[in-house]
Amino acid sequence: MAVLVTGGAGYIGSHTIVELLEASIDVVVVDNYINSKPEALNRVQAITGKDLTFYEVDILDEKSMEQVFENHEIEAVIHFAGLKAVGESVALPLSYYHNNITGSIILFKLMNKYNVKRLVFSSSATVYGLSNPSPLTENLPLSTTNPYGTTKWMIEKILQDIYHADSTWQIVLLRYFNPIGAHESGLIGEDPNGIPNNLMPYVTQVGIGKRKQLGVFGKDYDTPDGTGVRDYIHVVDLAKGHLSALTYITKHKGIEAINLGTGNGHSVLEVIKTFEKANNVTIPYTFEKRRPGDIGTCYADVSKAKKLLGWVAKRSLEDMCRDAWRWQSMYPEGYVND
Ligand code: NAD
Ligand code: WQD
Repeated sequence: MAVLVTGGAGYIGSHTIVELLEASIDVVVVDNYINSKPEALNRVQAITGKDLTFYEVDILDEKSMEQVFENHEIEAVIHFAGLKAVGESVALPLSYYHNNITGSIILFKLMNKYNVKRLVFSSSATVYGLSNPSPLTENLPLSTTNPYGTTKWMIEKILQDIYHADSTWQIVLLRYFNPIGAHESGLIGEDPNGIPNNLMPYVTQVGIGKRKQLGVFGKDYDTPDGTGVRDYIHVVDLAKGHLSALTYITKHKGIEAINLGTGNGHSVLEVIKTFEKANNVTIPYTFEKRRPGDIGTCYADVSKAKKLLGWVAKRSLEDMCRDAWRWQSMYPEGYVND
């Protein structure tokens, strides 16, 4: 019996597979490496000293996906595969809808056919939209502001419908807040293409000298220091949350949306200061205009994760900054040098 991990070579997938292998769970990965490198999976094996099986397969390729279901006895699926760049999704909505939604439908059809009804799906706090107040609870009304976010919302809806048609499914929709950091070995981490969109990879690239300075988007939000507040969560805590979700679905039928965050908000300036102190590195920055589509404050109510999964995030913002920096310093070019 094995767990199928789609998109397992990516940032969150690779960290999650470390946790799965360390819990002695057999893992089969499919990834088309559109936003990752197979080297990440070699590193996962180096960290854990355990083997996994990986296929270079696009989830849109139904025949190849079916072969994976034929080759292995799959007991559950963790579905990370998807495109995730918000700005790109605005420019290329069809690519996003096709890849994320059609890809997911192909996967769910095969799961149905092979009677694999246990699923952990990577959703996002982006489904809470712009107007809900924090702390965000799972039962709030959902809305989205870009095609990427809409794919997450639609896939959640599709899964609700699948469950309503067949109540033997066991599904958890994990709504991640802002995952940052890296495995403490420094061997795996976030490896964005081109100019990073997100705060922490931008900060680490300024730290290493790849970029001159950070632009802080907005200083007039209704927050303690005027800069945006987010719920940053260490990627290893997030990865452990998947293991807890997997344990949960083996015992519970139904479909549950669950936030994965720390429940604490930190401002952009706090992130910069914590990073500088933890790593003894200076991060030059300038204040820029607000980034369109951003909200002032976004953090999770994490009581449902604690209650249902028995999971809480343990790592501090300082841990996140230190571990992100270790990965960036050890591999300034990400995985490409290998
Ligand atoms: P990532 O891009 O590092 O990983 C996604 C993986 O999926 C990549 O390895 C990519 O090559 C693969 N992939 C994409 N399309 C595929 C396809 N058609 N077939 C096979 N493989 C495919 O992203 P991540 O940060 O690890 O995110 C994982 C999941 O979590 C994504 O679904 C993302 O939308 C979601 N998520 C991420 C964040 C975040 O801030 N990182 C926040 C909320 C939700
Ligand atoms: C964090 C804070 C920025 C970059 C995004 C997606 C969301 C989810 C997680 C997938 C904000 C500020 C950023 C910079 C800055 N992904 N910032 N300068 O926007 O909260 O969430 O990633 O589901 O869908 O939208 O994360 O890291 O981009 O921004 O000042 O160069 O840092 O304004 O306040 P965000 P982020």
